[in-house]
Amino acid sequence: METKVFAFTGKGGVGKTSLSAAFIRILSETYPEKRILAVDADPAVGLSAALGTEPKKTIDDVRLQIAESIEKGEMNAAAELLSESRFHLLDCITERGNISFLAIGRPEAAGCYCKVNAYLKQVIETISGNYDFVVIDGEAGIEQINRRVLEHINYLVLVTDGSRKGLQVTETIRGVAERLVSCEKTGVIVNRVPGDFVPELPDLLAVIGDDRRQCENDMRGESVFSLPQDSPLYLGAKKALEKLLGDDDETV
Ligand SMILES: Nc1ncnc2c1ncn2[C@@H]1O[C@H](COP(=O)(O)OP(=O)(O)OP(=O)(O)O)[C@@H](O)[C@H]1O
Ligand SMILES: [Mg+2]
Repeated sequence: METKVFAFTGKGGVGKTSLSAAFIRILSETYPEKRILAVDADPAVGLSAALGTEPKKTIDDVRLQIAESIEKGEMNAAAELLSESRFHLLDCITERGNISFLAIGRPEAAGCYCKVNAYLKQVIETISGNYDFVVIDGEAGIEQINRRVLEHINYLVLVTDGSRKGLQVTETIRGVAERLVSCEKTGVIVNRVPGDFVPELPDLLAVIGDDRRQCENDMRGESVFSLPQDSPLYLGAKKALEKLLGDDDETV
């Protein structure tokens, strides 16, 4: 099966991480024989807690380690660099059943973000092929789309709340993504909507209300695996996933 890559993007605080985690759980439950790579591409970190895992090492740790080795003159040949990089990357992957988890990490020095983003892009492109599904929890806003970190993906999931601002950010990201991202399908999840507001969007995947269970889960510091299967967030994520995979599901 060809790898299917999902990327979550949108305004800050709208539920990208919670929904990425829910997608990862649902994929893992629905396709127990498939391999899933979960990527926390947000330097602000969050997906690890949502999945109840802790990365031993991050992509930024590896990048720094390699940069230091080069500075000290410990490595010179490109081949050596490549094998070293692959070797260290294995240390970054934490596994739970059929889910492998990888995090970008938090670059300490100012101005480091573009370097680690460039490295992240390479890492994703290098290892994605080993998995059936890749789910990327992106950072808020447009930066990773602009920098083409998320260049080759299958499904772009735009998450928003019901606010005018959230919907505007969604349309801005969509516009930029149309130019810079090669992707098969785009869809919008409107999350934490009060009442029965349903925005008119051609590619609406799901509308999710305020989920008390998700709130409680979060306050207790519990992972997405403790979320009941009848909770609005779980059900909304399931519906969105089914809509995205749609006919493609035959190939899964
Ligand atoms: N449908 C929902 N009902 C209630 N709470 C929710 C819902 N969706 C998300 N939350 C809560 O909202 C908060 C923000 O969600 P989350 O961290 O997933 O957003 P985010 O878009 O990833 O934020 P950031 O931009 O900071 O990365 C979390 O406390 C989460 O538990
Ligand atoms: Mg987040």
